[in-house]
Amino acid sequence: MSTTGSKSKAAGKTKPKAKGKKDPFEPRILAFCCNWCSYAGADLAGTSRMTMPPNLRVIRVNCTGRIDPLFILQALEAGADGVLVSGCHEGDCHYVTGNIFSKKRFMFFKKILAEFGLGDRIDFVHVSAAEGEKWASINKEFVERIKKLGPTPVKNVKDLTDISIDDDHTRKGRIHEILVSLSNKMGYEPKKPLHFDPEEVVEGYGFPKRDPDKCIGCYACYNVCPEDAIKIEDIQNKRRYGTLHAQCLVCKECEKVCPQEAIVIAPGFELLSFLLNEPLWEFDIPMQKCSECGEYFNPKPFCDNLEKKISEMKAEKTLEELNLPFKPYTTCSTCKRKKLAQVVAEVAHPALKLMK
Ligand code: FES
Repeated sequence: MSTTGSKSKAAGKTKPKAKGKKDPFEPRILAFCCNWCSYAGADLAGTSRMTMPPNLRVIRVNCTGRIDPLFILQALEAGADGVLVSGCHEGDCHYVTGNIFSKKRFMFFKKILAEFGLGDRIDFVHVSAAEGEKWASINKEFVERIKKLGPTPVKNVKDLTDISIDDDHTRKGRIHEILVSLSNKMGYEPKKPLHFDPEEVVEGYGFPKRDPDKCIGCYACYNVCPEDAIKIEDIQNKRRYGTLHAQCLVCKECEKVCPQEAIVIAPGFELLSFLLNEPLWEFDIPMQKCSECGEYFNPKPFCDNLEKKISEMKAEKTLEELNLPFKPYTTCSTCKRKKLAQVVAEVAHPALKLMK
């Protein structure tokens, strides 16, 4: 009896899985390697026949400075179990500081992702072209770390955020969308504000900071903001200013236009208001009550400033001579109009009677 036939039949069959036994978890990891150092280092490890787990898919980039945070965020959203970034050693970057900028950006987003429980799944390393062995050991250690963490908890990978940037979508806006998506997928529920140290904050993240002793609540910043990021809210006898810093492009238009030099755009980031796209409120400004109708109408420092300006121009006398029928600084515009209309009516009525 020939055994060849039965052997080939058996070879065509897939071995049935032992009941209750799961396939061992094999993480899917994305590695971004800079062309000039790390990619060559990884290549050296391969040509030197060093053994490495096959879990990393390497994407070659010209410099780590080219890695947009959106690449890393979308890899995680798409279900990558881990993301590794590897670049030249500090001082060796072919573009001088690409790796330094990239690392700072990376650490900023790593801190945010750590809040969602994804921080350990990403890492930034430095490997030179001569460090094949180092690459092999980093590769093994990272795969081991991700194996211990288990499969990514980010599910529903079909529903990916569009990360294209065009006239209607800024990079910051897209980052906001994808961070919201990741936080939802991770079931992250922010409870209290989380302010980042300004030192940790990367370029493009910040918001106007107003000096409460200088700001008069004049609206100039509100009117000039191209992204409608400045918000104003009146609460009874107080007005407050805030910034939607997910929208603020740190363009400094508000800083330039402020007549009081009360605004400075400072680096900053607060996670809770960023994710919820809620304004980050600053101090309250007291409001002025109208001396006629009793309604609050303008910030008090704004009215005081007007009075101060008139006095600096030595124009109080001229104002007095006008004999206005209202108090110029403490009357709302509706009451001013009404009062003026009364005066006109009082003058016009007898004149009209005479003409009849
Ligand atoms: Fe390698 Fe910039 S060229 S990190």
